Amino acid sequence: MKFHIITFGCQMNVCDSDWLSYALQSLGWEPDTEDQAQCFIVNTCSVRDKPEQKVYSLLGRLKAYWEANPHCFAAVGGCVAQQVGTAFWKRFPFVRLVFGTDGVPYVPAALQQIARHPKQRIRLLDFLDHYPERERHFPATLPAQGFVNIMQGCDNFCAYCIVPYTRGRQKSRKAHHIMDECRALVQRGVREITLLGQNVNSYGLDGHGDGVGFAELLHRVAALPGLDRLRFTTSHPKDIAPEVIEAFGSLPNLCPQLHLPVQSGSDRLLQSMGRMYTRKQYERIVQELRLACPEIVLTTDLIVGFPGETDQDFEDTLELMRLVRYASSFSFKYSDRPGVRAQTMQGKVSESVKQERLQRLQDLQAEHTVQTLEAQVGQTGQVLVEGLSRKSGRAIPCWRGRDGGGRIVHFDLDTTGLVGKIIPVTITQAKKHSLRGEVSGSPW
Ligand code: SAH
Ligand code: SF4
Ligand code: F3S
Repeated sequence: MKFHIITFGCQMNVCDSDWLSYALQSLGWEPDTEDQAQCFIVNTCSVRDKPEQKVYSLLGRLKAYWEANPHCFAAVGGCVAQQVGTAFWKRFPFVRLVFGTDGVPYVPAALQQIARHPKQRIRLLDFLDHYPERERHFPATLPAQGFVNIMQGCDNFCAYCIVPYTRGRQKSRKAHHIMDECRALVQRGVREITLLGQNVNSYGLDGHGDGVGFAELLHRVAALPGLDRLRFTTSHPKDIAPEVIEAFGSLPNLCPQLHLPVQSGSDRLLQSMGRMYTRKQYERIVQELRLACPEIVLTTDLIVGFPGETDQDFEDTLELMRLVRYASSFSFKYSDRPGVRAQTMQGKVSESVKQERLQRLQDLQAEHTVQTLEAQVGQTGQVLVEGLSRKSGRAIPCWRGRDGGGRIVHFDLDTTGLVGKIIPVTITQAKKHSLRGEVSGSPW
């Protein structure tokens, strides 16, 4: 069987899709292009309306393809699948499997069964009360960067967010399973690991993590011999422990980078969003992080136009941005999601006001991004090479990688086989979103 996976959404979906691909290959299935595949797997995201609509337009396109190639079928997984469930079957008859995240481990067997029985349909939508451990599959060669899931779901129920409904309650993965997977990755040459979860700081608080908390887990993973870099995402500010903040100053392979979503700079809005921290508490965390690790690169998520957001609330957000000076941020217009608390809140903000606020916020961020990149000129960083720069085509190859802070760095070097190597690069120029530099020191 030839399959093709299309993935929307966050890193956790990417991680699930990668696992599915490896698991299917271990059964003898082959990944192929869209026009050759017999089985399509669509891993979906419903965090805002836009990614959800993308799923319907993709399935509309696949429907036309299926009408011409009726032996093909599709599986829809991830957050929209959890939300919409078997209703997909009516609208898109070629969809024969729907699965949520807790169903992922059972997808390969379900797909085999569907391939054998042309009339069968399967739903894997039940939530489990524990982390669904999966059989491990690795390809022959692994990239230098690996992602390891440490938990599933979320218990926070922020007023705007659908994730707790689509991913279910928080379930930490057993610490020894996490360690086994990290160890196996490092043994296969992985140099950088990113620990993944919707809210990694509350790892273990659900009682599922072998009695280990997130700070302890970080220390254990960081101590793995051969691991050059460790990152984690995403962090909810309310649960960040002092020991995690201190780890940025004490663990040499913990990268100086933290994505710390703030959502708003207004206490009034933080409260109605149910974020469970105040602006002062957030500012204090930033201060402590910078004390522990002065070079830490901070990024964030921001929402504009949450119900009830006034001009003053929005100005408070801009003021917070000026104070923290994020290296970059993801910013979104508030989008109504079915069944969440904010859906029925008063004071919905008009599309034009949301658009205008988003533009102002993004203009301010662009200034801060350039300024933080310019501050790197003259500094030397260690760059983990990811590949050739897309614009390459020049006489000397131009390489692209990331420094410890997660910034993209381009540099020229007339050689081959640099992917996965860590190279010292001195920054010579700041671009809009990335840096350029020269390899420093010998033997390079
Ligand atoms: N667990 C992560 C966030 C996952 S969703 C965390 O709490 O940090 C990623 C981002 O999408 C959120 O941080 C938020 O900024 C945005 N988001 C979530 N629901 C949204 C909605 N209904 N409208 C607009 N943005 C939303
Ligand atoms: Fe959504 Fe909040 Fe959970 Fe993040 S912490 S996934 S924003 S409910
Ligand atoms: Fe999207 Fe689900 Fe991730 S809603 S952001 S794919 S948890």
